Amino acid sequence: MSAEARAAAVAARLLDGLASAGFAIEPRFLPPDLVAALRARLRELEGAGRFRAAAIGAGTQRAVRPAVRGDQLCWLDAPLAQAEVDLLARTEALRTHINGALTLGLFDFECQYAIYPPGAVYVRHLDRSPAGAERVLSAVIYLNEAWSPADGGALRLHTDAGEVEVLPEGGTLVLFESARFEHEVLCARRERLSVAGWFRRRAKLPAGR
Ligand code: OGA
Ligand code: MN
Repeated sequence: MSAEARAAAVAARLLDGLASAGFAIEPRFLPPDLVAALRARLRELEGAGRFRAAAIGAGTQRAVRPAVRGDQLCWLDAPLAQAEVDLLARTEALRTHINGALTLGLFDFECQYAIYPPGAVYVRHLDRSPAGAERVLSAVIYLNEAWSPADGGALRLHTDAGEVEVLPEGGTLVLFESARFEHEVLCARRERLSVAGWFRRRAKLPAGR
């Protein structure tokens, strides 16, 4: 199968999942060499001191609360490394496929690296806060090598049909409706690496315009 045919088949599976259940899981969405290159890039950014403790809440409530959310974050920003260009080409192709099939009006994709140290969690939450009202679809892609169930660290999605747990295996993509599913990151025994991103629609104009 050509790369384009494979990408189209993957997009069709993801669209099926989104349309029927509001979420989809695609193991091996990224090939191992790209996962390894993104992991190397993450380490480079970490070494350059570019990661910051994730904060939660908005406005004056905004604070770092590691018991609620314990990861370290770094946005993918220009100048992009080649691996990041490759990743964003894939998310862009996916965005085009989704817009062609579902009327979600996705207009861009923003994403960040996340490092969860051993023992860190992100308690049950919704990605579409009032501050993030443009987030339509959440996407998480994992960068871990040889993850085993004993390592813990699953993403637990609270779906209409009950809890669904996804292990953070390198290359796996999870896609879900941001406003619909609460989810949480369970405690892992080892460091847990990912890229978390959001397909967004355009912000609404302020009322009266
Ligand atoms: C997030 C998030 C899930 C994961 O960053 O908002 O819920 O599995 N991440 O890393
Ligand atoms: Mn989340």
